[in-house]
Amino acid sequence: MLRGKVIVIGICGGIAAYKMAEVVSRLKKLEAEVYVIMTPAATEFITPMTLSTLSQNAVAVDMFWQTGDPHIQHIELAQRADVILIAPATANMVGKIAAGIADDLLSTTVLAATAPVMLAPSMNVHMYENPIFQENLKRLHRFGYQIVSPGAGFLACGDTGPGRLPEPEILVQELVRFLSPLQDLTGKTVLVTAGGTQEPLDPVRYLTNRSTGKMGYAIAEAAQKRGARVILVSAPTTLEPPAGVDIVPVTTAQAMYHAVMEHYPQCDAVIKAAAVADYRPRLAANQKIKKEENNLVIELERNPDILFELGLQKNHQILVGFAAETQNLTEYAGEKIKKKNLDFIVANDVTREGAGFGTDTNIVTIVYPDGRMVPLAQMSKLEVADRILNEMTALPRWKK
Ligand code: PMT
Repeated sequence: MLRGKVIVIGICGGIAAYKMAEVVSRLKKLEAEVYVIMTPAATEFITPMTLSTLSQNAVAVDMFWQTGDPHIQHIELAQRADVILIAPATANMVGKIAAGIADDLLSTTVLAATAPVMLAPSMNVHMYENPIFQENLKRLHRFGYQIVSPGAGFLACGDTGPGRLPEPEILVQELVRFLSPLQDLTGKTVLVTAGGTQEPLDPVRYLTNRSTGKMGYAIAEAAQKRGARVILVSAPTTLEPPAGVDIVPVTTAQAMYHAVMEHYPQCDAVIKAAAVADYRPRLAANQKIKKEENNLVIELERNPDILFELGLQKNHQILVGFAAETQNLTEYAGEKIKKKNLDFIVANDVTREGAGFGTDTNIVTIVYPDGRMVPLAQMSKLEVADRILNEMTALPRWKK
C-alpha cells in the first residue's frame, strides 16, 4: 500500500515513544521507506537500535549526523519525504516548531521540510490543555500542519483526560489516508451543519447547548479531502473552518433553517451534526432583562425541525442525522430515522466518556431504517467522519 513512499518519523521524548516501534514495523510491512529521527530525550525511552533494526535504516539523533552516504543528509531527507510524522510530539517540540526554532536535528529537519508534516501530540493532560500549547497547535494548523488528535483516558502520569498517543494502527491509518487519499466524493456537494445554535433572550443572553462543532467540522474536513464541494453551515464555534470548505455562519435555528433550505436543492447529501435548539424564547427583549424579586418565567416556542423539513422535501439527496441521547440510544435513534425520513442516523450516547459534546473522540452507533446497526469503537472525530462517509457511499441510493 505504501510502496515507493518515503516516510520520516520524528520521535520526541515522551513515554509514548515506545509505541513507535510498532508504527515503524507496520509501515515497513506496507513497504514504505522509513527514516527515523529521534530527539536525544527520545533515546531515553526507546533505543535507536530498535528503530534502526525495524526501519532498516540508520536512525538520526545527532545534529551533525552523517550516514556516510552524502545523498541522505537530513535536509535532503526533509525534501524527499512524502510525509513527516512527529509522534509523540511533545509540548516542547510543538512550541519550537511554532516559534520557528531549529536547535536540534528534528526541529531543523521540520523547518527545512517541503514535505507535509503531521503532528501527533502526546503529553500530560494539563500540558495539553495549557492555552499556550493550544495556541501553538492552532498556529501550526493554520500553517497547514496536520494534527492527529490524542486519545483521552488514563495517562501514564496518573492523570485522566486527553493526551494519549493514538494506538499504532490509528497512526498508520492516518498516514495511509494522507498518502493515498480517497477521492470518491469528487463532483458531489455535501452540506454539513455543525455547532450549537444560540437563541437570544435579550441583547446579552442566549440559550444554547454544549456543542463545540468539532464533530461537524471533522465531517466537513473529511468530505472536502475526499473531493466533495462542502457547504458548512455553522453555528458559532471557536474552531477554524477546514481549508477549502464554503462556510455559512449562522447563529439561530431559524437562520440555520433558511441557510440549509437555500442550498438543499444543489446538494447530494446533508449531514446534520449540529445541535439545533428545539425551542427559542418567544420574545427576545430589546433591552437587558433586569433582576426582580419574583421568579422569571420565560415562554419558549418551537423552532423549525430542519431535518424533518429536509425529510419531507427529500428528492435525490442522502439525509444523515445525528442523535444525541442520554438513554435508550438506539430506540430513540430508530424513531428519529422514521420520523425524519433519514438514510441513516449516527447515534451517540453523550453520557459516555470520550463521546459526544466537546471531546476530540466519539463513540457512535450507525443505525439504519431496517434496524441494522454498525457500532464503532472510540476513535477520533475525523475517523468517525470518514466512517460515516464510507457508510454513505456504500448506500445503494448513493450509487444510483
Ligand atoms: O459539536 P461537538 O461538541 O463535537 O458534539 C457533537 C454532537 C454531540 C453535537 C453531535 O455528535 C450530535 O449528536 N449532534 C446532534 C445533536 C442533536 O441535536 O441531536 P437531536 O437528537 O436533538 O436531533 C436529531 C437530529 O435532528 C440532529 O441531526 C439535529 O441536527 C436535527 N435537528 C434537531 C432539532 C431541530 N430543531 N432541527 C434539526 O435539524
